[in-house]
Amino acid sequence: VVPEIVLNSGRGMPVLGMGTATYPEPPEQTVFEAVVHAMELGYRHFDSASVYGSERPLGRAISFAIEKGLIGSRDELFITTKLWCTDMHQDHVLPALRHSLEVLGLEYVDLYLIHHPIRLKGEKKMEMSSDDILPVDIPSVWEGMEECQQQGLAKSIGVSNFTCKKIAELLTHAKVLPAVNQVEMHPVWQQGKLREFCQEKGIHISAYSPLGAFGAFWGSNKVLEAEEIKRIAQSLGKSRAQVCLRWAFQQGVSFVPKSYNKERLKENMEIFDWCLSAEDMEKLSLLPQERFNLAHPLVSPTSFYKTHADYWDGEV
Ligand code: A2P
Repeated sequence: VVPEIVLNSGRGMPVLGMGTATYPEPPEQTVFEAVVHAMELGYRHFDSASVYGSERPLGRAISFAIEKGLIGSRDELFITTKLWCTDMHQDHVLPALRHSLEVLGLEYVDLYLIHHPIRLKGEKKMEMSSDDILPVDIPSVWEGMEECQQQGLAKSIGVSNFTCKKIAELLTHAKVLPAVNQVEMHPVWQQGKLREFCQEKGIHISAYSPLGAFGAFWGSNKVLEAEEIKRIAQSLGKSRAQVCLRWAFQQGVSFVPKSYNKERLKENMEIFDWCLSAEDMEKLSLLPQERFNLAHPLVSPTSFYKTHADYWDGEV
C-alpha cells in the first residue's frame, strides 16, 4: 500500500501518483485503460492537467471503477488537475476549474495547481511560444485559486514550476499558503535549494518527470542511463526506474511517474518494501546536475525571457 503525506491544508496525499502528461496525446482509450489498470494495481493518486487531454479519459475511468466496484467511492482517490497558461487571469480561474470538473465528471479535485507562472494568449495547447506571452499578475490569479478552495471545488491549491523567487513573491500576497509546488525533480535535477526553501515554508514538493521524462520532447535518458543508477539497480536486483522512485521517496517528496504500460505501472509501485542505503543515497547526491525542462520555446533574445536563467530566476 502506498504511504501518504499530509499537506499543509490538512489533507492526505498518496506519495505515488500516476502521471498522465503525454505528447503527442494518445487515444483516449489508451489512457482510460491504463488508469483502470492502475486502479486495479492500487494507484489512488492521478495527476492530470487541463492541457494534457487526459481529464476526460481519467474521469471516465473513475466512473467505470466505481461502477465495477474497483474502488468504493470517489473520496478514495486523490485527483490533481492544473490551470493552463491561457487561463492565467483572475476572472478565468473559477470557470477554468468548473470546466475541468465538468470534463472529469467530478464535483471537486483534491489539488488544483497553477501549471506555469506565465500567461499565454491563443488556444489551449501543449506547444508554448514566446510570441504568445502576455503580462501576468500572479497574486490576483492566486486569489482566484483561493476562491476555488473556498467554494470547495479544490480541496487543496498549489503551484507548479515555481522558483524560490516566485514562491517568495506569492507568499507576500497569499492568504492561503500553496500546499504543493510540483516541479521537475529526479537524481539528475535534485532541486536542493528549492526543496529546502519550500520545506521552511511548509510547502510540499511533488516531483514531475521523476524518471527524466524519457520520450517527452524535452526529456532525456540521462537519468535511466546514469552509470551510478545502473550500478545500484544491479546490486539490489531492482530496475533503474525503481531506484529513481525510491530515491524520491527517501527524499520525502511525492512523485508522479508516467507510464501507460501494465508491467511498468506495477514495477513503479514496488518500491515501498526495500530501501537505498545511506552510501547509495550519498553517491546519488553527487551526480552532475542538469535541468531538462528549460522551457526552450518561451526563451528568445526578442522575448520577455531572454535566457533560460531569466525564465527560471537563475535556477538552471
Ligand atoms: P511508458 O509509458 O512506455 O512506460 P517520467 O515519469 O519521468 O516523465 O518518465 C516517463 C517515461 O518513462 C515514459 O516514456 C515511460 O514510458 C517511461 N517509464 C515509466 N516507467 C518506467 C519504468 N518502470 N521503466 C522504464 N521506463 C519507464
